[in-house]
Amino acid sequence: MTELEKAGSELSQAASPKTIYLSEYRKPVYLLDSVELRFDLHETRTRVYSRLAFRRAPDAETQAPLKLDGNRLELQALKLNGETLAPDRYVLDDDRLVIENPGPCFELEVETQINPQANTALEGLYLSSGMFCTQCEAEGFRRITYFPDRPDVMSRYSVTVVADKQKYPVLLSNGNRQEAGELDDGRHWVKWQDPSLKPSYLFALVAGDLACQKDSFTTMNGREVSLQLFTEAENIHKCDHALMSLKQAMKWDEDTYGREYDLDIYMIVAVNDFNMGAMENKGLNVFNASCVLASPETATDQDYYRIQSIIAHEYFHNWSGNRVTCRDWFQLSLKEGFTVFRDQEFSADLNSRAVQRIDDVNILRAHQFAEDAGPMAHPVRPDHYIEISNFYTVTVYNKGAEVVRMLCNILGREGFHKGTDLYFSRHDGQAVMTDDFVKALEDANAIELKQFRNWYSQAGTPELTVNESYDAEAQKYSLTIRQHCPSTPGQNEKKPFHIPLAMGLIGRSGKPLPLSLENTNTSEAKLEQMLDLTMPEQHWTFSGVEEKPVLSLGRGFTAPVKLSLPHDDEALAFLFARDTDEFNRWDAGQKLAIKIALKLMNDYSAGKALQLEPMFIEAYRSNLNNSVLDKALVAQALSLPSEFYLADQCATVDVEAIHAVREFMRRQLAEALADDWLRLFEENNVPLAYRFNAQDMAQRSLKNLCLSYLMELDSLDQNKVGYRQRCLQQFQKGDNMTDVLAALSILSQHDVAERQQVLDDFYNKWKHDRQVVEKWFAIQAASPLPGALTRVQALMQHPAFSIKNPNLVRSLIGRFCATNPVNFHLLDGSGSRFLAEQVLVLDELNPQIAARLLQNLSRWRRFDQTRQLLMREQLERIAEHQGLSKDVYEIAGRSLEG
Ligand code: BES
Ligand code: ZN
Repeated sequence: MTELEKAGSELSQAASPKTIYLSEYRKPVYLLDSVELRFDLHETRTRVYSRLAFRRAPDAETQAPLKLDGNRLELQALKLNGETLAPDRYVLDDDRLVIENPGPCFELEVETQINPQANTALEGLYLSSGMFCTQCEAEGFRRITYFPDRPDVMSRYSVTVVADKQKYPVLLSNGNRQEAGELDDGRHWVKWQDPSLKPSYLFALVAGDLACQKDSFTTMNGREVSLQLFTEAENIHKCDHALMSLKQAMKWDEDTYGREYDLDIYMIVAVNDFNMGAMENKGLNVFNASCVLASPETATDQDYYRIQSIIAHEYFHNWSGNRVTCRDWFQLSLKEGFTVFRDQEFSADLNSRAVQRIDDVNILRAHQFAEDAGPMAHPVRPDHYIEISNFYTVTVYNKGAEVVRMLCNILGREGFHKGTDLYFSRHDGQAVMTDDFVKALEDANAIELKQFRNWYSQAGTPELTVNESYDAEAQKYSLTIRQHCPSTPGQNEKKPFHIPLAMGLIGRSGKPLPLSLENTNTSEAKLEQMLDLTMPEQHWTFSGVEEKPVLSLGRGFTAPVKLSLPHDDEALAFLFARDTDEFNRWDAGQKLAIKIALKLMNDYSAGKALQLEPMFIEAYRSNLNNSVLDKALVAQALSLPSEFYLADQCATVDVEAIHAVREFMRRQLAEALADDWLRLFEENNVPLAYRFNAQDMAQRSLKNLCLSYLMELDSLDQNKVGYRQRCLQQFQKGDNMTDVLAALSILSQHDVAERQQVLDDFYNKWKHDRQVVEKWFAIQAASPLPGALTRVQALMQHPAFSIKNPNLVRSLIGRFCATNPVNFHLLDGSGSRFLAEQVLVLDELNPQIAARLLQNLSRWRRFDQTRQLLMREQLERIAEHQGLSKDVYEIAGRSLEG
């Protein structure tokens, strides 16, 4: 068999989706010296001309064929060194073009035709609200032209975009604008050149009728960078916050990491149809409009916060992702985990560190711990996949960020930055592995992190059991910690992790006690100690401990583990009131709430009357009246653990019990503390012009939390105090979306006479604004009132809904399936049946969105027998469906395995 025949037979076997393994990685045989592209843009038949200068890698086999990726392309012409290639010199199939023995150094010219209008998958080149745009990560470039579409092939691009001048006056691509001109048929062109080396996934092109808001930033070396934000003209007044955030991010990366921007222009484009939040294409970021546009009347504090962090995230990728990129997609966390860590620290520095930490831990516990405990569990660096789009997960992103955070804690801030400096300089312009990142940190600090690497290769959340003892006579306090990691699919045996744990001891008066560890030669006593747990079981003894202390362990959440502490309710309440570590203070409240909720759930299942312990109410009361604490922290302290996190604590998820108990606790707290909620609401209900800053945000969050507790009392109120009136008034008179939406959301969760009216009023006021309409759908989808599915189905017929728009699908269908458990898990099976129907419809249009939605069924084994059956039935129905995308095939398959 010749090389070409071999390649051909490989191709014809590709019937059922193939698994890709990290262990099968091979270096590219042909490298790309330059890429020249010309796009002749037409809505239904765009022509793409490419001229590629290839060179065989020095150590590669000489007869190797050239393998190019390509998907849904119509090949129009193919030339090798200027000569049309005879059909017997290449093999073409659904996803590849293979060319026999092309030589050591050659030029390939490829002409393809594509149909952007028909591209509903939103990968590659597509149309969104009348503009052309691209999304190439991870493997979208192969839907534009035949190409070595892998991140370790980096090249210099020059791109000419040609389009109708009237419809598409703005033509953009990466890098610098070189020249432009007009053609005589009403079309015009612009040529762009990107001086940096980049892989195909960072390529971008945009063409449309766009307005532009400009700003500028002067770098630490005095270079002026032009900042340009493009959007539809009607939204041009919503650009200020994003541009301000961009300047803050640029400054922060200079101050914190010494990283400067490297081009003269930084462009951001807002698009309405986008699978993700935003994309870091070199010099030309593309953003989901909902993640970049904001005005006080239309965007909430949460939106403002998210925009600031996502703008920063994509900007930070310029170093952690673009200049140093991934060798292959198994290394995704190299750029994503690190960049999430960077954006979390940026947000902590600009707003409130403790609030940021609590929010991040909440996401990790509610979603990542669940992923780690289910059939989709995978390491931060996965070792196999069918479809890489399925691995943009909370594990790769958020746990990946925690792993980088642990490294930072182990090395200390200074050592960590010495390490990242070495990483950036050593690997600038390269495509590398997570292991190269760890190696750079090791080398810069002369330290060894062999065991630490288990965090990258082992899936699962370690569980820690803690025992303590105090010897009053000897004044000694001892601690024993054991670690255990449950098995995950394909990984039964786990090696112990290196787990850094910050801790402190607190005396009865609330005073931190000095810590002096036995068998260490440091004499000075500190108030906080980092313990390095590396063995399955380990002991520590502290001497000179004058009273029986209360342990505060895992301060600041220094490791992504589950801690089971020896504390009783009283100790937790003590920490909830007195811990000097703001994170652990909050966490003690959560742990106490969980303990109580679990007890109540048992009572609920046993048919006993529920009763909330007075000590819990008192713990809440003292937090409520703590005027020293940051208001945002008070609001977080007074928020009960989410239904997801509660579910994670149960052996079998009892959807009704969790919901009923949480509602019961909310109601009891509302009643018992009614006067306090009301006073605090009034105190914080001050008319202020909207400003986005930590202090004002904190005030709004506390006020709106109070309002939500107060509204629990509505049915008892008979208009004496007027809780509902306060809610209605805030809805009607509020001058910012944070307050208006908070009121609307509270009202929509209660069966009150005004409910439909306020929803209608809101829609009529905002129907011209896409982002607000998305919120309107989301609020209704999340309302736990009975009949939600019927309402969701009716809303799918609403003229403002479109199944082709990912934001609307997420707001309505996604929200319902993911955040409305009592309605989604009804025992008639209607929820999972609905989900499965939508997955099958969506899979024809947009596989990435379909696969995300399907993940809501993956944890079916966590539920009771009846629900398991209902969910499994739907998974099987999907798995048996013919012609599934790789995306959905993989999620259905993994969910049913084992
Ligand atoms: N590179 C991703 C965007 C992406 C991922 C595009 C997968 C296509 C496929 C980007 O940097 C990113 O991570 N975006 C996140 C937001 C971020 C703040 C975590 C997103 O889009 O959700
Ligand atoms: Zn990212």
